[in-house]
Amino acid sequence: MTRLCVAAGGLNLAQGFPDFEATDELKQAAIDAVNRGLNQYSITHGEPALRQAIAAKALRYNGMPVDPDTDVTVTCGATEAMVATLTALMNPGDEVVVFEPFHEHYGPDSILSGATPPYVTLHAPDWRIDPGELRAAFGPSTKAIIINTPNNPTGKVFTRDELSLIAELCQQWDTYAVTDEIYEHILYDGARHVSLATLPGMADRTITVNSISKTYSVTGWRVGWTIAAPAITRQIRKVHDFLTVGAPTPLQHATAAALAFADDYYDKLMAFYQDARDRTFAMLQGIGLDCSNPAGAYYILADASRLMRSFGVHDDVALSRELLRGWAWRPCPARRSLLATRAGR
Ligand SMILES: Cc1ncc(COP(=O)(O)O)c(C=O)c1O
Repeated sequence: MTRLCVAAGGLNLAQGFPDFEATDELKQAAIDAVNRGLNQYSITHGEPALRQAIAAKALRYNGMPVDPDTDVTVTCGATEAMVATLTALMNPGDEVVVFEPFHEHYGPDSILSGATPPYVTLHAPDWRIDPGELRAAFGPSTKAIIINTPNNPTGKVFTRDELSLIAELCQQWDTYAVTDEIYEHILYDGARHVSLATLPGMADRTITVNSISKTYSVTGWRVGWTIAAPAITRQIRKVHDFLTVGAPTPLQHATAAALAFADDYYDKLMAFYQDARDRTFAMLQGIGLDCSNPAGAYYILADASRLMRSFGVHDDVALSRELLRGWAWRPCPARRSLLATRAGR
């Protein structure tokens, strides 16, 4: 879809990356690190300065006490963090519970690690968990569950009660929880982010995955990390060493600078996205898509069935192609509306 969109000169709403620059301060930190000669391999599990910054931020923002020497592994983005974690922990025949709809990597990551993913539906329109369905997904073969909050693509922010149910089941069945919190700073209407690792009994069985891609608008830098108890971290580091060796050294140093940004950086980011969400939600509804309003992350899941009927197509890929054709060749109200929204930002 990205390739087709570029060819049509359209606006790509299908892939999650910011269409604006990172701050000058962050870019300068990267330039400075290169100029200071920090250009060779780092310690594979991450530069000490960055691991310290990750631990300090996790304590300050998430309330998680973290030992930078034993609990942190720096990876090439959350993408590598997730696949390294599952590869380290799962064996053939194990099951990893995945909420559906899910970020595109979780299914393939589970399968690559040898595990099978039983799926548990998040029910529209508010992406509710059915506690009975979740309980039924756990069993003797369950080794882990993947949580993503705030969630891609639903925009759901898991509540403390929902996380408590997950925590209860993880302890009952003695499983790991892998929680992808990459959107922790993109929250709307006063929603609060809760880190699963802070719930009672969860610190030693939770692997927290995160990265700078979304919070600092640098998806191309490829710096992420895991936070986990020492015994788990040792396993993740072994896999990570042979997957990628390490994340780019100068960008690790710039990341340490980013993690020390003051609170007003996050306040401004949140205000920016709140405004963008409000405008985009109104605009999508205006062109005939029934949407659920996200509580976090930067996705809006839209029901396209009405548009599909009006274009006479029966699946999402065909509709996307039709939209791009309309975008490229016809005067299209959706295009005018999107451009107006964009200009207003
Ligand atoms: C939920 C989620 N996790 C992970 C990623 C990938 O993160 P990274 O760029 O750090 O590899 C994305 C990117 O869209 C995402 O939405």
